[in-house]
Amino acid sequence: MNVLLIGGGGREHALAWKLAQSSMLDELYVAPGNPGTVRHGRNVKLDLNDQRALRQLIIDKRIRMVVVGPEGPLVDGLHDRIAADAQLKGLVTVIGPTASGARLEGSKEFAKEFMFRHNIPTAQFRAFGKDQLPEAIAHIGRMEGPYVIKADGLAQGKGVVIATDRKEAEKALNEMLGGSSLGAAADRVLIEQHLVGVELSAFLITDGEAFKMLPSAKDYKRIGDGDTGPNTGGMGAISPVPFAEKEFMGKVHDRIAVPTIRGLRSEGIPFQGFIFMGLMNVGGDPYVIEYNVRLGDPEAQAILPRLRSDLMDLFEGIATGTLSERHVDVDDRSCATVVLASEGYPGKYATGKPIVGLEMVRAAHVFQSGTALDKDELVTAGGRVLSVTAFGKDIEHAIINAYASASLIEFEGKRQRMDIGRDLLQATAGKGGGAAGMKLGVK
Ligand code: AMP
Ligand code: GLY
Repeated sequence: MNVLLIGGGGREHALAWKLAQSSMLDELYVAPGNPGTVRHGRNVKLDLNDQRALRQLIIDKRIRMVVVGPEGPLVDGLHDRIAADAQLKGLVTVIGPTASGARLEGSKEFAKEFMFRHNIPTAQFRAFGKDQLPEAIAHIGRMEGPYVIKADGLAQGKGVVIATDRKEAEKALNEMLGGSSLGAAADRVLIEQHLVGVELSAFLITDGEAFKMLPSAKDYKRIGDGDTGPNTGGMGAISPVPFAEKEFMGKVHDRIAVPTIRGLRSEGIPFQGFIFMGLMNVGGDPYVIEYNVRLGDPEAQAILPRLRSDLMDLFEGIATGTLSERHVDVDDRSCATVVLASEGYPGKYATGKPIVGLEMVRAAHVFQSGTALDKDELVTAGGRVLSVTAFGKDIEHAIINAYASASLIEFEGKRQRMDIGRDLLQATAGKGGGAAGMKLGVK
């Protein structure tokens, strides 16, 4: 089968690498891809808004499956456009939801209301529109801090402010509802109850009827060690998460995954693809912080290597509505992913810096994201340049291996967090083991 993969980050490099291992795959096309995906398929240029070009590519290359990596095209209705194209009718399966399902990520207010309709544990909230700034400020006045203020729409990780005092909260509300750099994404804002706990990400794959849980992961969003500095797309990930053991994951399955899939079905919202549940472990109980309708980046780089099953087989299960008959087999070992970024990220950074040492990495996977070829030379081309994923028999060894391999790669301005997974080590080393350690409030 010929597959078109949409995206060009580390997540898509990991997806391309995983898909390329399948005997069910014939040709893989990646749009736009990056220098890393070239090893597993052919990179193609494609303007996703150009329906004719998209249709032509699908027809010319005999593509039967379109796998969408990032959320943007899904929220924009890429799946819907492919499904509605008369010339493509019945020809392709899209892995990734239609726009109606993508609202789980594209509108935080929709996601919240959905969770309340289906009794899925999440923080209490209220939503306010552009003309309700006084009401929003009055609402803050009745609450205790810290205040969680979120733009409703997609804001590339910049749409959440956690304000410790009222003044800061009012400023955030003023900025968002008063027309900020977030634009229409902040036309509505949510004020949420502040939850305290440890965050982790759970993933599932679904054909809209059945679903299968995938490995859990924890990502490290802040740029600096000890979770300091601004938020990024993610600076590293660990899979599995030690406190996400059987009992906790059983609660995630029963209280979150099952009602989410049942809720989508009962509301007539078709959904095929991944659901990423951003969770908070509050005293041993999972709460949903947010849904995403795709895999995470860099979480994908930490979970896909642990997936023993053929990903094409799972996608085929989606295509034929037979996911329930497929198996998800997971490697028991741990994976650690360390992101190498450009100095200055998530702010301004330089590009075009030669990257050396990749060929020295033997004991880890290197997934490229912000890279480019300058003639034959690999150079930096983005904030997050690449990620290094290594296995270990436990988290500690995975971390040691990932850092050892990451140290072989050099480029000017290379930056990385040095503490990926350290909090989890402290937690598991604590008296009484993982779950007990985590409850001590390690974050
Ligand atoms: P989100 O974009 O919704 O995932 O939020 C970004 C980050 O803000 C999360 O990863 C959490 O660290 C934090 N956050 C979001 N909502 C809450 C909440 N209700 N209580 C505490 N922290 C939150
Ligand atoms: N690493 C967080 C995300 O992909 O949303």
